[in-house]
Amino acid sequence: MLGAQLIDGKAIAADIRRELKEEVNQLRAENVIPGLTVVLVGDDPASLTYVRSKERASAEVGIRSEIKKLPKDTPQPKLIALIEKLNHDPKVHGILVQLPLPEHIDSNAVLRVIDPAKDVDGFHPVNIGSLWTGPRGQGFVPCTPAGIMELLRRTGIKSEGLNAVVVGRSNIVGKPMAALLLQNNATVTVCHSRTRDLEEHCRYADILVVAIGRARFIQGDWIKPGAVVIDVGMNRVDGVLCGDVDESARQVAGYITPVPGGVGPMTIAQLLCNTVTAAKRSL
Ligand code: GUN
Repeated sequence: MLGAQLIDGKAIAADIRRELKEEVNQLRAENVIPGLTVVLVGDDPASLTYVRSKERASAEVGIRSEIKKLPKDTPQPKLIALIEKLNHDPKVHGILVQLPLPEHIDSNAVLRVIDPAKDVDGFHPVNIGSLWTGPRGQGFVPCTPAGIMELLRRTGIKSEGLNAVVVGRSNIVGKPMAALLLQNNATVTVCHSRTRDLEEHCRYADILVVAIGRARFIQGDWIKPGAVVIDVGMNRVDGVLCGDVDESARQVAGYITPVPGGVGPMTIAQLLCNTVTAAKRSL
């Protein structure tokens, strides 16, 4: 067995950032500087790391980014007032509220306040609706699933007619991933914590996308030989970053994304894409 071809998300994301930098330069020539504001409530260390990566990547392509840090005990009305202010700020093209929010805050209520035209995370109900009903390319698509579709496209993998199995049904990854695969003519199954015979569903997948947050959970002998395996997991075990898919899958899959260096960099690249799109639409 030769083993799976690794899908190099790090390199593909770097290509995308290079392309975006050119687009940003053109916008800057028209006096438009794409602006992204990230709102971070509390001091969760993982969220802080993500937010800093977003800031670094923005700077690399010429997007003006700003982090608004609020204390953990910020009352919900205060957070909403900040979002409303950002909605009206013409220098801000994209608004991202880092999740998870502290428990006393109703995330859905907060996400609904973001102007859908600035919702670069694609979490506002208007954008979720556009994703499911079309027309294509109108709203904003959540960054991780959009990044995965771009990985497939740039690797030359077509999902039309294939059996795609998504493990995980989160609003951030699983549900929008299912919508995009369906839009691209795959036959989609969504599995979750209550699914019976998960292994059997996985064995049926030509494309398997796993986003469950359980380290090395999916085993090599659950994978169809030659399948495309997309590992969205970001788990830390004994200080080492690992995905939701066990290393044994590499002996069976046709293509697989490594962790780190697979889906992660693509999520950020897609966020930058969405921000540049928002800036262009504001013209
Ligand atoms: N937390 C984990 N992933 C994401 C994401 O894609 N967007 C936001 N806003 N928060 C997250």
